[in-house]
Amino acid sequence: MAYYIINGGNRLEGSVTVSGAKNAALAIIPAAILAGESCRLENLPRIEDVNMLEHILLKIGASVESTADGGMRIDPRGISNYHVTFDMVSKMRASYYLLGALLGRYGHAEIALPGGCAIGQRPIDQHIKGLRALGAEVSIEHGIVKAKARELVGADIYLDMASVGATINIMLAAVAARGQTIISNAAKEPHVVDTANFLNMMGAQVKGAGTDIIRVNGGMRLHGCTYAIIPDQIEAGTYMIAAAATRGDVVLNNIIPTHLEAISAKLMESGVTVFEGDDGREFYMRVSCDNRPRAVNIKTLPYPGFPTDLQQPMMAMLAKADGNSYIVENIFESRFNHVSELQRMGANINVNGRTATVEGTKSLAGAPLYASDLRAGAALIVAALSADGRSEVHNVEYIDRGYEYLEEKLRALGADITRVEE
Ligand code: EPZ
Repeated sequence: MAYYIINGGNRLEGSVTVSGAKNAALAIIPAAILAGESCRLENLPRIEDVNMLEHILLKIGASVESTADGGMRIDPRGISNYHVTFDMVSKMRASYYLLGALLGRYGHAEIALPGGCAIGQRPIDQHIKGLRALGAEVSIEHGIVKAKARELVGADIYLDMASVGATINIMLAAVAARGQTIISNAAKEPHVVDTANFLNMMGAQVKGAGTDIIRVNGGMRLHGCTYAIIPDQIEAGTYMIAAAATRGDVVLNNIIPTHLEAISAKLMESGVTVFEGDDGREFYMRVSCDNRPRAVNIKTLPYPGFPTDLQQPMMAMLAKADGNSYIVENIFESRFNHVSELQRMGANINVNGRTATVEGTKSLAGAPLYASDLRAGAALIVAALSADGRSEVHNVEYIDRGYEYLEEKLRALGADITRVEE
């Protein structure tokens, strides 16, 4: 167990390089199973969830080597076991992508149900609906999802909600299905597009990713490739929010501005200066704030709306904004577990169902804080950085899942943060 000690009040200043996208990596690593040869992935974040996924691939027989530049080489040809047990899944719930990947490659997959987590029930009924539409027999026995298919055949699939996981999982199986699959009401997140681009680099034919209709012409033999994943939209947004919350001045490198439009717009509405530029080689974003941010209203929505993963860090910034902010969490049914921790710092927040009313206060007081999930942890870090005095943020293993080199990056920006191993 470890925790962070943060002495708040320092302005974040300087530049930070955004790592590869966690939610793209967690989809593309399983997708590499579909290739008949080895793939080399670059710009992967070295975070706990990626380490866990690497461990699972090794356990089922794939060969996985980390490369010197932080990349990963995956050769699926040695896979002999299609059973991913609960102890593997319990630490890394996004292993459900192995359902679509193993089913697509071997016609067989047995994955322990990931179950709910701190932010909601997280059902996978839409994943199962899609795989069944492609001709798989899917049953749930003793908490294990068992999927088998002699042959996968393309189908028209309509998603009840624009589920990121279901869109990607169905896409993974559809590239191995004979004929065309159409996924309607598909999720449009950047990591959905990145996964489709990776599949196409392997020789698949996936069209329309990034729109709500994705067409897959399946049955192609997929070859190996080298692929660099996109920068992490949510990590970038978290640093943008932290810069604003500490009235800092931070340049973010390795970003894709279009992925950050919703967060940039909200920060500018709050009075924060957001400048997008490119140095002739790559884009950068500069976020600066000299005055107290103004209150703004947030409604989380599927991409390109305001991302649910930034709702929690944004609330930490708005806890000290000038005025009342209204935050509606439309994606997950219980994504306000960080509120009680912020209240202990003096935040004035009232939750009613899916709406949180945040009455901005002039200051927050440092306190011992306990993260309940990954982005709640990020919210507590943002709050502690902008609070008066000393905070401790516990349960950092949640934060380790999604933020690469967090302590080093924040310290380089001037934060007074120290990780203590208990
Ligand atoms: C992905 O989760 C991300 N995780 C989440 O990021 C992110 O918050 C979420 O997408 C929304 O953007 C990964 O990519 C690994 P969904 P996912 O399916 O795929 C309901 C983080 O912090 N639903 O788009 O599980 C579901 O309960 C994590 O990085 C069903 O009802 O999200 C939720 O209310 C947290 N049935 C809504 O849809 C299903 O079969 C959206 O879920 C699937 C989903």
